[in-house]
Amino acid sequence: MSSRAEAFEGWIRTSFVQMNTELENLYFARPDRAQVIGCGDPIKASLRDEGHAHVVALLAEGNTGEGFDSAYGVLGSVGLYLGALRRHELTNPAREERSPFPEASSLALHVGASLGMAPRFSTGHLATHNRARAGVRKSFTTLRDEFLFIDENTRGILSLQRAADALTSIVHLGVSSPVADVMFDAAKQALRDVIRFNGRLIDQLDVERFFYSVRPYYKPYRVGRQEYRGANAGDFSGINEIDLLLGLCRANDPYYAQLLVDKMLFMLPSDQVRLRDCMTRMSLLDELLLLVDEHRHADWFQQNARAYLEVCDLFGQSAAQHHNGLVKRFIEGPAASLNAQDMQGITASGPPLPVLLRSLEMLRDLRLAADRRDILTRHADLDRLRGVVHGYRPPALSS
Ligand code: HEM
Repeated sequence: MSSRAEAFEGWIRTSFVQMNTELENLYFARPDRAQVIGCGDPIKASLRDEGHAHVVALLAEGNTGEGFDSAYGVLGSVGLYLGALRRHELTNPAREERSPFPEASSLALHVGASLGMAPRFSTGHLATHNRARAGVRKSFTTLRDEFLFIDENTRGILSLQRAADALTSIVHLGVSSPVADVMFDAAKQALRDVIRFNGRLIDQLDVERFFYSVRPYYKPYRVGRQEYRGANAGDFSGINEIDLLLGLCRANDPYYAQLLVDKMLFMLPSDQVRLRDCMTRMSLLDELLLLVDEHRHADWFQQNARAYLEVCDLFGQSAAQHHNGLVKRFIEGPAASLNAQDMQGITASGPPLPVLLRSLEMLRDLRLAADRRDILTRHADLDRLRGVVHGYRPPALSS
């Protein structure tokens, strides 16, 4: 990493975090916690100007060709900076046609385009590729609830990646292979972990602190002329690999295909490759359905179809928990007390909250293979499998 990139990152890890934390504590102490305009203006000015000096130095340096990690780090630093400026209302896409920060926009566009990624920070910057230094990872603030959120998100993402890796191995073994049992077990254990980490968030995250002091950093903002949606914990390929390999979602479904296209540039290039590869595979469900008539009494079919159904049930439970436990509790609930003005930009992806919630419900129900008439789920296909696997019972949650 160049010394200027290192200096910028050093600032992000120290003064930037301190200033954001001070501002959050000021806002949180106000009678209306959503009202940030006109509060802490000298701190906001320092944050803007100190960050600007780093950005200008890096922009002058140009592309130093120091490799992926360095460029990805710069994209994260400039992205966190722009995300904070948006959070503190020093920019707001609703009242501007272009970003008022042209130098930061140019830097983000240059680095983003050279990496093949959206020119903003994404989940990888704060999760899977957030390198700790002496135990401290990058964050916007030092608030306990922010660390809880990014740490449990990262544990969840890593676990979903493990489940995706295990299911990918089964594609290569074939769903009839006796060896698939260890990989189905690995996927089940990983999904139990996801459910455990989600449960910790539900129990331990403070609703108000999360809603007023953490979530606002994930709002959409403009880079140059264009507005880019915020980061969310779904910006990695593993979750979609699981959808597609289990066969619960299909890449030729117009709703789901659109979702894949929209998130592609928010993922690391290595994840983009994994997702594209996965889109060309036959799902495990379709493989099992081709075998069911002829082989349903075979031991291998009984064992592997049972394991497949158990994985689906755990995945469905984790999806229901994300929607009914996390989204409702931490976003829909507290949003009910906001006025129309403060509702703007509340979601990371930008659409009004009811629209986002309907779309997330659809995803939940695809993953649950729910019995819905208005969307095409795999309900009937899973019922068919359940009908031929002797004495099938969904797995208990304790591991
Ligand atoms: C307090 C905790 C959480 C809340 C409130 C929350 C809320 C949300 C919301 C509102 C979205 C839609 C994005 C948008 O705003 O436009 C979303 C997307 C997503 N979140 Fe979370 N989330 C939380 C934690 C997690 C965790 C721990 C995971 C697991 C790793 C996760 C996985 C996902 C995924 C995969 C998506 C993309 C949509 C999908 O494929 O389901 N989230 N989340």
